[in-house]
Amino acid sequence: MAEFASSLIQSLGSAALHEFARINGLKDELERLKEHVETCKAVLLDLDGKQEQSHAEQNLVTRLKDVLIPADNLLDEFAIQDMINKRDRNKLKKVLHPYSLKKLDMAHEIEKIQKKFDDVEKYMFGLNLNLNVSAVEKTNSEWRETGSYVPESEIIGRDDDKENIISLLRQSHGDPNVSFVAVVGIGGMGKTTLAQLVYSDEKVQNLFEKSMWVCVSDNFDVKTILKNMLKSLLPKEKIDDTLTLDNLQSMLRDNLNGKRYLLVLDDIWNESSEKWDKLRTNLMCGARGS
Ligand SMILES: Nc1ncnc2c1ncn2[C@@H]1O[C@H](COP(=O)(O)OP(=O)(O)OP(=O)(O)O)[C@@H](O)[C@H]1O
Ligand SMILES: [Mg+2]
Repeated sequence: MAEFASSLIQSLGSAALHEFARINGLKDELERLKEHVETCKAVLLDLDGKQEQSHAEQNLVTRLKDVLIPADNLLDEFAIQDMINKRDRNKLKKVLHPYSLKKLDMAHEIEKIQKKFDDVEKYMFGLNLNLNVSAVEKTNSEWRETGSYVPESEIIGRDDDKENIISLLRQSHGDPNVSFVAVVGIGGMGKTTLAQLVYSDEKVQNLFEKSMWVCVSDNFDVKTILKNMLKSLLPKEKIDDTLTLDNLQSMLRDNLNGKRYLLVLDDIWNESSEKWDKLRTNLMCGARGS
């Protein structure tokens, strides 16, 4: 199956497909599709290398197959359509063909497949497989990682939104000591950029004694989030992989106790309230207004 994914990656590199994507504004979609397939390939390679697969792993392989095959079919359809177009162009006549893929069809089909990839990846990360996941995370999460820096001069038209959020941050909302402000919206609309603008504003920096920026992405794992919070606060040599959850919790309490802090959690996808509650418990250590 990993070889199947490899051949799919090759098909995704076809010049005709790239030209089609460029003309029809589907370049980003195509790029994301390729990243998804690369993630699947990395997982399949790791699973292939395992002596014995658990039931969950076997189920994952089936689910990966169920998404890679439709992706392959779509690319086959595209290749056929491309051949027909070229043939027709040679004959100087147009023929309506059942495989006819217009821009919107293609965009729609890609969207359907992306959704399937998103679902299977969520399932995969939820399994907490003991794989060599560095390759997996690199292809999917690392390119999404964000930091707090923003080139402010290039950002336009967000002054009011920024001030609105700052005014929310100034209020404490009755909760014991930590309040939450959520910025929600479709991909690419500027949520991260707005958060960066707020985070780097001088008023905000003066309002909080400690500030932390953590990019969460697909892996909403409480221990990882706590570790990354500490990386924002302490020299990085103080945070190593041997630290237990208990160590991290007590280090966080030591650093945040009684202090009003700001934490940005960027690129959140998690909808499990159980995981949120677990994280929330760990965030209660700051001063009121955090
Ligand atoms: N107000 C703005 N002015 C100029 N460029 C902007 C503005 N807001 C966002 N951008 C640019 O648009 C792109 C997408 O913005 P951003 O990453 O903030 O979106 P997002 O909502 O966080 O997306 P995602 O849901 O994928 O994380 C970035 O390249 C960013 O620099
Ligand atoms: Mg973002």
